[in-house]
Amino acid sequence: MPVAPAIAAAAGELVRAGVASARVDAEWLAAHVLGVPRGRLPATPEFTAEAYAAYRRLVAARVRRVPLQHLVGTAGFRWLDLAVGPGVFVPRPETELLVDWGLARVAAAGPAPIVVDLCAGSGAIALAVAHEAPHIRGYAVESAPEALVWLRRNAADRATAGDPEVCVVAADATDSATLSILDGQVAVVLCNPPYVPETTPLPPEVADHDPPAAVFGGPDGLAVIRPVIARAGALLRPGGWLGIEHDDTHGAAVPVLLAADGRYAEIADHPDLAGRPRFAVARRR
Ligand SMILES: C[S@@+](CC[C@H](N)C(=O)[O-])C[C@H]1O[C@@H](n2cnc3c(N)ncnc32)[C@H](O)[C@@H]1O
Repeated sequence: MPVAPAIAAAAGELVRAGVASARVDAEWLAAHVLGVPRGRLPATPEFTAEAYAAYRRLVAARVRRVPLQHLVGTAGFRWLDLAVGPGVFVPRPETELLVDWGLARVAAAGPAPIVVDLCAGSGAIALAVAHEAPHIRGYAVESAPEALVWLRRNAADRATAGDPEVCVVAADATDSATLSILDGQVAVVLCNPPYVPETTPLPPEVADHDPPAAVFGGPDGLAVIRPVIARAGALLRPGGWLGIEHDDTHGAAVPVLLAADGRYAEIADHPDLAGRPRFAVARRR
C-alpha cells in the first residue's frame, strides 16, 4: 500500500473525528509503524501488508480519540522522549516553559542545588531539569501508584542514558512529612499539579485517558495548589524559588494565594505561548 495516499485518507478520517492535529497525527502514526523519522516519510513509498494493517488499527484508535502519545508509547518533552500510557498524565508543551524558567533559577543557585518536582507524573519536569542541568540533586514526588510505575521507568531509563539519578519519592506532595528532611534546603520547587476546576468540559483525550487525579483540582481547581504552596514554603531555603503551573483562569488567584502565605516575595505570573496566564512564581523570603 503506498504511504502518501494512506496518510491522506487517515488524515481525513481524523479530521472528521474532531482531531485538531489530524495530518500531523496521521504522519506520526505512519512513522511509528514504519520505524522511520517523520521527516523520512516522503522517502518511504510503501507499507507492507502487515504494516498497513497495524497502521489502520492505530488510526482507528486515534479516531476513538485515544491520545497519540499512548499509541506511539512516548511523549516528547524538551530534549527527552518519555514513556507514557494508561495511568499517567501526558506531559504538555506549555509545561516546557515552566522548566525553562526553573532552569534559569537553577543556573543562579550555586553548586549542587536541590530541585524538587512536586506532582511528578511521568517525571517530565524533574528529568528534563536533570538532563539540562546535571549538577542538580533532583527529587520527584508522586502519589498515584499507576503514575509511579511510569515515573520509575523513566527515571531508570534516563539514569541508564547517563543523566544524574533523580530520587523518586512515593508520597503525598501536600503532606508536611514529605521530604521534611529537606526543609529549608531546597533551591527550586517546580510543580505542575492537578488544577482543572471539576466542571470544566474537556476533550476525550483528556477526559477518558488522563487520570482524573492528575487533572482535576477540586471544585475551584485550587485544592492541591493551596497545600503545595504551604509545603514549598517549608521546603525552600531563604531566597529559593517556587514555580507552579495553574489553570488559565487562575492568573490572579494563585499570586493572591502566594501573597497570603506570607513567606513569599517577588511574586509574578507568566503566560504560555498562547498568551494565557500559565504559571506563577515566587521567591522564599
Ligand atoms: C498535571 S499532572 C503533572 C505531571 C507532570 N509533572 C507533568 O508536568 O507532566 C499531576 C500529577 O500529580 C499527581 N498528584 C496529584 N495529587 C498529588 C499529591 N497530593 N501528591 C503527589 N502527587 C499528586 C497526579 O497523580 C499526577 O501524576
